[in-house]
Formats: sequence, C-alpha cells, structure tokens
Amino acid sequence: MTQGLEGVVAASTRLSHVDGEAGQLILAGYAVEDLAPHATFEEVAYLFLHGRLPEPAQLVAFMRDLASRRVLPPVALEVLREAAAAKTAVIDALRMATALLSLGRKEDPLEDSMTAIASFPTIVGCYWRLLNGEKPVEIRSDLSEAAHYLHQLFDAVPTPERARALETYLNTICDHGLNASTFAARVIISTRSDVISAITGAVGALKGPLHGGAPGPALDMVFEIGTPERAEAFIRAKLDRGERIMGFGHRVYRVRDPRADVLAHAAERFFSSDGDKRLYALARSVETTALRLLREHKPDRRLDTNVEFYTALLLHGIGLPTQLFTPTFAVGRVLGWSAHCLEQLAEGKLIRPQSVYVGPKGLRYDRAPAGVASSESGTSRR
Ligand code: COA
Repeated sequence: MTQGLEGVVAASTRLSHVDGEAGQLILAGYAVEDLAPHATFEEVAYLFLHGRLPEPAQLVAFMRDLASRRVLPPVALEVLREAAAAKTAVIDALRMATALLSLGRKEDPLEDSMTAIASFPTIVGCYWRLLNGEKPVEIRSDLSEAAHYLHQLFDAVPTPERARALETYLNTICDHGLNASTFAARVIISTRSDVISAITGAVGALKGPLHGGAPGPALDMVFEIGTPERAEAFIRAKLDRGERIMGFGHRVYRVRDPRADVLAHAAERFFSSDGDKRLYALARSVETTALRLLREHKPDRRLDTNVEFYTALLLHGIGLPTQLFTPTFAVGRVLGWSAHCLEQLAEGKLIRPQSVYVGPKGLRYDRAPAGVASSESGTSRR
C-alpha cells in the first residue's frame, strides 16, 4: 500500500512531464524555459486545449472567443458582494463564484473550459476590489488575458513589461503533472461529471496550504532579513533552531526546479525596467546565502531554490499583495485543470482506487432502539 499514492501512476497525459531527477518540465512538448517566457498565455491555452500552437488566424479567433466570455453571470457578482461583506478569503470567493459559471448554460466540456479560463481573472480581480471597498471596473475585451487581470485588479492598463512578467508566470505554472488539484479535477470528471464541477473541486484542493500556499512566507523572510549583511546570521539561526527555509527544497525536484530559473529570469528582466531594484538585489543575495548555508547544513541532500521563491518576488514586483498569490496561481492553473478534464473525458476511465480496511470487525450492535426510527431511511450502498 502506498500512502498518499506517492509514485503511483494514475493517468497518462500529453500535457506536462515533470522530471524531478533531471530538473526538467515539459509543457505539451515544449521545455518550460522555451515556452513560458516567449509565448502569450492565449497561445499556451490554445496549445493545451487543442494539442498544437495556433496559426495566426486561429489565435485571433481564439482570443476573441476568450475575451467574449469575461463577463460574469449577475448572480456570481451578487455572491461576490455577499462574500466581500463577510470578508471571505479570496480563494473561497473564487470557489463560490466558479460553481455559478454553469448557471443557465448547456454543459459542454470545451465551452465550459473556455468560460472558466476567461472568467477567473474577472472573478479574482473584481472580488479583490469589492473586498477593499472599491467598485468593480468595466470589462475590456481589447486586452490580453494577463493585462485584463491586472486591469480588473487595479483599474489601469498595465505596462507591456508588467503584463509580460505576469504572462510568463501564468505560463510557467499552468500545469505540473498530476499535482493534487489536477488529480482532484480528473477524479471528478472521470465520473462523467462536468468541467465546472471539476474546476470547482480543484479550487478547493488548491486552497490547502500543502498545495497552494507557500510564496507569501518566502517573501516575508526576505523582508524580515532587510539588508544583505543580515542574511547569514538570520538564516543560520533559523537552521540551528531546526526550522525550514521557505522557498527552498522540493518533494519532486532533486535538482533545481526549472520553473525557478524561468521566474528568476523574468524577475531580472522585470526589475531592470520597473519595480524595487533594491528588493530584487536583496532577494538574490538572500538566495545565494541560503543555498550556501543549506549545503553546509545538509551536505548529502541537495536543497535548491523552488518556484515559490521567485513567484513571490515576481508577483510582489508586479504589484500583487500576498493574499492574491494563491488566487493568481489559480488564474494560470485553471488552464491545466481544463485541459486535463478534456483529456480525461476523451481517454480516461473512472478513477476508483481501493482502500485497505484497518478498523475493527465483528462488533455487535446491542443498544436499545432509539426513539425515532425512520422507516423511510434507505440503505443504498455505493
Ligand atoms: N530548509 C531547511 N531544511 C530543509 C528544507 C528547507 N527548506 N527542506 C528540506 N529540509 C531538510 C528536511 O528538514 C530534512 O531534514 P531531516 O532529514 O533532518 O529531517 C531533509 O532536508 C530532507 O527533506 P526532504 O525529504 O527533501 O523534504 P520533503 O520532501 O519532505 O519536503 C518540502 C519538501 C518542499 C516540503 C521542503 O523542502 C520544505 O518544507 N521547504 C520549505 C517550504 C517551501 O518552500 N515550500 C514550497 C514548495 S514548492
């Protein structure tokens, strides 16, 4: 029996391949470092949903289609308003609004995927404004997905550098093998349920801190350190106390996480044109010190920078507060969830593993009959 299904192959996929030993990530045939910094998010979305990069005319039609799906059902907006009044966490509001995307529409896997991908930036952007007591902004259909998301959040058209930095991030994290939320989506759709149900479940899986939640603390550490000279003493003290250094180490990658490199380059490019250059220099120096001390601390175990470290730096540079880091991850990962749903529907079988019973056997029920005995209660067993 394998607890947590570690090492168990539960699906075959053409969407992404994670090679933890070699430090490689392939996205639908392309190395992440080749595709993510150069392609637009819409190109990657087309690639994932249709299995090949689009021709120019196909891309134009695809972008128009996506942009036409950005407006939320009015009831979703209502729910977001209620959620904001109750100060609901952004990821929970996203899950609630996602469930409403199927309202009044006929189920169709590709259409549902397109609607979810197009709606996520609107949901998160609009909800963030409501949560902060601001009015949602009008939806623009002439902006790219990444620019539309930033416009929804901040009511300003972003610079091309800012939009590009976000686009590189969204491409980099759009899929990553059979991670927990993607597996959750595949399990749900494997029952021949619908794509919106599967994506709603995936958002729920992403909410958990073991999956979606580490970039905030990585950045907090950089802020706490404050200046490069303080890095060594700070990190050494943490390691001496047996604490983990956030943003380093990975369960799958035994060498450097290739996504960290892509995002490090994106951060370097972005911070050379915009953002707080002092913070960027500090983060680089904290990284160098952390790597040196981790090597000293665990000489037999390679602990390298992971995707969270540069995610934090890049998203902060773009202007996103830490509460938006996990929801922004969902804005990119919804593409992977959708494509996995389409793949599972086309090729997969009901996912139904087994469990090993470890409870007692042979117990006898010998209590007196309870006051209310329901004669209607069914005894269906599934
Ligand atoms: N800082 C200090 N020590 C670390 C470490 C880190 N970031 N990551 C791993 N280690 C240590 C562990 O404590 C363990 O030590 P031990 O053998 O004395 O108990 C050893 O290295 C081996 O750990 P490993 O088996 O690689 O860790 P894992 O697979 O259980 O954990 C992570 C992987 C990601 C959970 C872990 O590296 C971690 O907690 N990193 C920090 C949090 C983080 O950045 N998360 C985002 C991941 S994308």
